[in-house]
Amino acid sequence: MKTIAIVATGGTIAGTGQQGKTVAYRAGEMNVDEIIQSIPMIQNIAHIKEYQLMNIDSNEMNPQRWIVLSNTINEIVKDEHIDGVVVTHGTDTLDETAYFLNLTLHTEKPVVITGAMRPATATSADGPYNLYQAVCLATHNEAWHQGVMGLFSNTIYSGRDIQKVNNYKVDAFDQKAFGCLGYMQDHEVYFFSRTFKIHTIDSMFSKRVLKDLSSVGIAYFYAGASSQLLYDLAKFHHGIVLTGSGSGNYNREWMRAIEDLSSQGIVFVRCSRVAQGIVFDDEIFDPQHCCIPGNTLTPQKARVLLMLALTYSLNHDEIRKIFNEY
Ligand code: SIN
Repeated sequence: MKTIAIVATGGTIAGTGQQGKTVAYRAGEMNVDEIIQSIPMIQNIAHIKEYQLMNIDSNEMNPQRWIVLSNTINEIVKDEHIDGVVVTHGTDTLDETAYFLNLTLHTEKPVVITGAMRPATATSADGPYNLYQAVCLATHNEAWHQGVMGLFSNTIYSGRDIQKVNNYKVDAFDQKAFGCLGYMQDHEVYFFSRTFKIHTIDSMFSKRVLKDLSSVGIAYFYAGASSQLLYDLAKFHHGIVLTGSGSGNYNREWMRAIEDLSSQGIVFVRCSRVAQGIVFDDEIFDPQHCCIPGNTLTPQKARVLLMLALTYSLNHDEIRKIFNEY
């Protein structure tokens, strides 16, 4: 049998509340060994090594904790007896952590991130089944060199593209236009596609031990939005991800502020508040080419990439290349 490391960080999968209920619970309360004990069939799939790294609501996740998580997993996978890793995580910021790990883990071994929408004490909690399937996926030979994968409700997602798309239903994740990497039925794994973008062992960000990240903020555009928001963000950040309307658009006041702040060294990435599509260069909204297009990344994922990119380079063309490749 293979050996899988489960690295627990908290979330609803470790949440407890009133017995049977799905609301008014606290995330990150239960230890991972208690959750594993509730899934006896896991013992037939793999030897498990547990690491209770943190036990937090994922809204408390932050760049320093990402670095601790990534560096810990990079140490764990050096052990030749470990065949794969499963990370348990709250669903609220799981998309960001999945992408961060996808960019910073130096391994070809399977790494699967999962969680739950219902606390462990709910009737029909979804966590045990997700965790069971995540362990099965981490033992699968075809799961090698797929990048970090998200596993929810029988579906395998790529760490780059996974998004939380529903804040209420158990089947809460998707990767929109890119479908999914594959499906699972109980322990069976069926891959149908793979991500084309650079990840894990091939990623430049996985090749050195991370100590800190550049600071990047996100500005959300809406009808009548003032450029003061951009100036305020620029006081504290090296980069700003713009969540524009439509194809990453904004008003003329924002355009003038972006040109001004860009000339002062702030790096801008343009994304969209629209859930699907792609953001390209745009001659009308960005005639001075101040912004790097976020292409298909959500604003929060573009922030993750920009934080990493800025720790390596301040060169606009290099960062643009990174956004094309990752
Ligand atoms: C959290 O993200 O930690 C709470 C919500 C969840 O896991 O679904």
